[in-house]
Amino acid sequence: MKSTPQERSAVEAPSLQELRQRALAAASPKAYGAGAAIACDRLVRIFSAEGIEVQALQGLELTIQQGDLVALVGASGSGKSTLLTILAGLDVPTAGTATVAGCDLLEMSAKERLRYRREVVGFIWQQTARNLLPFLTAAENIALPMQLRGRRAGALGAKQQGARVAELMEALEIGELAHRRPNELSGGQQQRVAIAVAMANNPPVLLADEPTGELDSETAGVIFESFRTVNRELGTTVVIVTHDPMVAGEVRRTVAIRDGRTSSEVLRRTVTDEHGEESVNEREYVMLDRTGRVQLPVKFLEALGMEHRVAVDLAADHIEVRPDDVAGS
Ligand SMILES: Nc1ncnc2c1ncn2[C@@H]1O[C@H](COP(=O)(O)OP(=O)(O)OP(=O)(O)O)[C@@H](O)[C@H]1O
Ligand SMILES: [Mg+2]
Repeated sequence: MKSTPQERSAVEAPSLQELRQRALAAASPKAYGAGAAIACDRLVRIFSAEGIEVQALQGLELTIQQGDLVALVGASGSGKSTLLTILAGLDVPTAGTATVAGCDLLEMSAKERLRYRREVVGFIWQQTARNLLPFLTAAENIALPMQLRGRRAGALGAKQQGARVAELMEALEIGELAHRRPNELSGGQQQRVAIAVAMANNPPVLLADEPTGELDSETAGVIFESFRTVNRELGTTVVIVTHDPMVAGEVRRTVAIRDGRTSSEVLRRTVTDEHGEESVNEREYVMLDRTGRVQLPVKFLEALGMEHRVAVDLAADHIEVRPDDVAGS
């Protein structure tokens, strides 16, 4: 279709008002997730193995504010570890954007990636043996990340390193274990040392993939308390993948991942009633993505037999979703 001269000039020469709007938009620093500790936008990770493609992350959106303590939950294979290894700088997404503490995870060079893993994020694996070097004592394991950092990158002197090791061991109540090697420690003690190792260079973000998965529930509680301590005392942003309902039930925010996307989250708030009694108010939300998509809970859809197509209406302060009433078309 041909445009008239007026239409063409309108395309070529924007009005003064349009120009002003564009200038304002360009000057605004409010990019998606700006200022958040972690921001993932339309994150995709496709694995190709033996000719089969697996879409582990399918356009995942997630923002986590600085200083938050967040649990990530979801069925096996939903993409939790894939997300965490990307955030840890151990894997690179296929598409999308991911920013952690201002670092762009898709644009980093190999050298920047190394610095990122050493200084910006601490990581804890589920397998206790994977987190520590077996031939070093607990104190030596904790000192190692500081030694690897190198003088030019702002590494502490030997004396200050020793003080930092002592400080971390005290905070995590493992002072008496300083000279033991990992095989002389229980699983729970190893994980507490692992948290100290991950925190050695004081990273702003701490990530843990099922850190209590190999432990009994009592020990898991102690480890979880250590994460809380780190979050509270050092202001570190903490993200824990867990299957443990006890952990998921104690954090302020639990994010659920389903089929490679964030699907719902539970927020918990402490509220005080008129008698001064405190109670925890818990509410589940589903995610609304940037294009307006919502993943409705399967149990709700099944209860009303909704599938394929639904009727959506706007009410004064909510949106109504009803089963399709035009059957057969
Ligand atoms: N390296 C890989 N090569 C091929 N497929 C992979 C790879 N890593 C993960 N996947 C696939 O990606 C999907 C997501 O896996 P992921 O490990 O992230 O799940 P998860 O939520 O951590 O599960 P779990 O709770 O069992 O640990 C799965 O279908 C998995 O088989
Ligand atoms: Mg996993």
